[in-house]
Amino acid sequence: MSDLWNEGDTVVLRRRGVPPIVLRLARGPQRIGEYGVLDLSSQLGRPPGGTVSWLDASYRVLRPSLADLLATIRRGPQIVTPKDAAELLFLGGVGPGGRVAEAGAGSGALTIVLAHAVGPAGRVVTYDRRPEFLDAAQANVRRAGLAERVTFRVRDVARDGLDETGLTSVLLDLPEPWEVLASAHSALEPGAYAATFSPTYNQLERTVRAFRSIGYDEVRAVEVLERSLHVGDGGTRPDFEMLGHTGFLASGRKVD
Ligand SMILES: C[S@@+](CC[C@H](N)C(=O)[O-])C[C@H]1O[C@@H](n2cnc3c(N)ncnc32)[C@H](O)[C@@H]1O
Repeated sequence: MSDLWNEGDTVVLRRRGVPPIVLRLARGPQRIGEYGVLDLSSQLGRPPGGTVSWLDASYRVLRPSLADLLATIRRGPQIVTPKDAAELLFLGGVGPGGRVAEAGAGSGALTIVLAHAVGPAGRVVTYDRRPEFLDAAQANVRRAGLAERVTFRVRDVARDGLDETGLTSVLLDLPEPWEVLASAHSALEPGAYAATFSPTYNQLERTVRAFRSIGYDEVRAVEVLERSLHVGDGGTRPDFEMLGHTGFLASGRKVD
């Protein structure tokens, strides 16, 4: 990634109090959804942080944050929330240069988080048994500017297993993660982790039992609760509303 904008870079248009607009930097006018047409050619060769005038307002042209990328993905299947995705990175041992397999791709939200975390030297293989979801995930990952780090494969991993070896992490967000954990164990290198996301206790129990019976070490099960706070002039307190439930996370490490 150069310090100056190149054609094809992913940028975010930001203006205080207005939702982010994520797009690719193109030469010439381009249509921005239902908003209208914008020409960002003047930014080419310039550093991030410049301004453009559009629809009677001024926008900063910035490098997108992970929050920008997740806030603007096109939704299909239910996506993992940022709090769960962040914990999954920790439980799954995902870091720079990682070789990661993920299933199912769904909307590609976790794929984007994984591709962001492994950096330019890392690789992510993401599987989904439904080609239309894989296409949607691929479009979201491409829009986020991370497609070069990701391979997309149509595959039923519960039935056919993973077709990879030497992985540093396996992440599973599908209805039957326990069906994939033996194949994941074979695909992981010693010392590497598998981590799962499941919406119900029943799934979590089956998953943790499978982690144990297959011989994973360091088996854990956690739930992440996030409570935002209202900081006001009259006092600071928790917000009245809270996202009550998303899912449960489990993980294990291949040692032998
Ligand atoms: C909840 S979505 C995953 C959402 C994704 N983690 C995200 O953040 O966008 C679950 C996905 O798993 C896929 N899936 C279910 N069973 C599968 C299997 N056996 N093999 C591969 N993909 C599967 C579904 O088609 C669906 O797209």
